[in-house]
Amino acid sequence: RALDRDLDLDPPTTAHRLAPVAPQLSVVVPTRNEAHNIEPLLRRLDDALRGLAGEVIFVDDSDDGTPEAIARVRPTVSLPVRVHHRAPRARVGGLGGAVSEGFALCAAPYAVIIDGDLQHPPETIPALLAAALHEAADVVIGSRYVSGGSASGLAGTTRHLVSTGSNLLCRLAFPRRLRGVSDVMSGFFLVRVAAVDRAGLRPDGYKILLELLATAGPLRIREVGYAFAERHAGASNASMSEGGRFVRRLFSLRVPRPARFALVGASGTVPNLVGTAALHHLGLHYLAAAILATQVAIAWNFVGCELLVWDRQAGSRLRRYPAFAIINNLDLVVRLPLLALLVGRWGFGVGTATLLSLAAAVIIRYLVVERLVYR
Ligand code: GDD
Ligand code: MN
Repeated sequence: RALDRDLDLDPPTTAHRLAPVAPQLSVVVPTRNEAHNIEPLLRRLDDALRGLAGEVIFVDDSDDGTPEAIARVRPTVSLPVRVHHRAPRARVGGLGGAVSEGFALCAAPYAVIIDGDLQHPPETIPALLAAALHEAADVVIGSRYVSGGSASGLAGTTRHLVSTGSNLLCRLAFPRRLRGVSDVMSGFFLVRVAAVDRAGLRPDGYKILLELLATAGPLRIREVGYAFAERHAGASNASMSEGGRFVRRLFSLRVPRPARFALVGASGTVPNLVGTAALHHLGLHYLAAAILATQVAIAWNFVGCELLVWDRQAGSRLRRYPAFAIINNLDLVVRLPLLALLVGRWGFGVGTATLLSLAAAVIIRYLVVERLVYR
């Protein structure tokens, strides 16, 4: 519903006004401040798709007049062009969210996703479609790492390394699903729209292809080489935080939530141990040190849960914190008397005692649950 709100339903121009044809191919272009690239992009798309029943859908998150540029060029090309402009507050999911909304707007059975900055050659689109049609593929990935492909447009060694590294990481995480996929990071691909499970997508940032391949049912995947060009105008929108988003998303796609919870919980041992030892070393009584360090560990675990376990929850984090802290402090009921025994009575070191008390808390929780809940 909200999706169609600002969907531009202007009638298509020129030839298509007289002879409307059901499009065979929807070209989805996510744009964020690409005003200077619109004209060359639409010209090249128009030439490349000649003879094909195509349409172009911009999903735009710009503040720089990109929609105006599109409106200006649209009458001069023969492809039907639509713009879905997202208001600042409606820009969910960044690039990935834009692409996902684009899928919902496609009138054609096949959709091509292509960047708006001419780093992806529109001239390769017919080859993507041909591969899909001739080989009954659900997804055809434009790849820089197969014959006919090149990654020379990746500016700088760092970006090369990041691209190769993330590719490897994805393929390690999903060896079966990504078998034969050489360019998981590609932003240039074609999909059979019906094969996309839009409800299953939780797009966040750049890695929409990974999201799609990881969440869809079994897919027939092909690749076609293309040369990744330099940006035509402007600067990349990618950033370090995109990298963080990507790693987190890969983790949550791969590892089930209870396992993520257990990992985060176990990792809390580190700040707890280090904190208790350090505070004690600074002269604090070991029980006070344990109480304080536990607060640090709880904060640590809370951040872990927010980022890695229940990531992207709506609502205020601050509001969730008190309940989280109270529940996690219950451990101290067991741990403080135990620490007093271990250190005060039996002469254990504070570090060892902390570790033992944390282990004991887990075991006691297990036994209590077993006795009281699973009798
Ligand atoms: N709607 C929308 N919203 N579009 C966006 C957003 C956003 O938040 N962020 C970026 N875009 C658009 C850009 O306008 C451009 O058309 C396209 O998405 C790619 O963005 P760039 O900022 O040019 O990304 P890049 O060149 O660093 O990364 C590209 O190449 C990578 C491979 O190295 C993308 O295709 C990546 O997906 C790809 O992994
Ligand atoms: Mn780019």
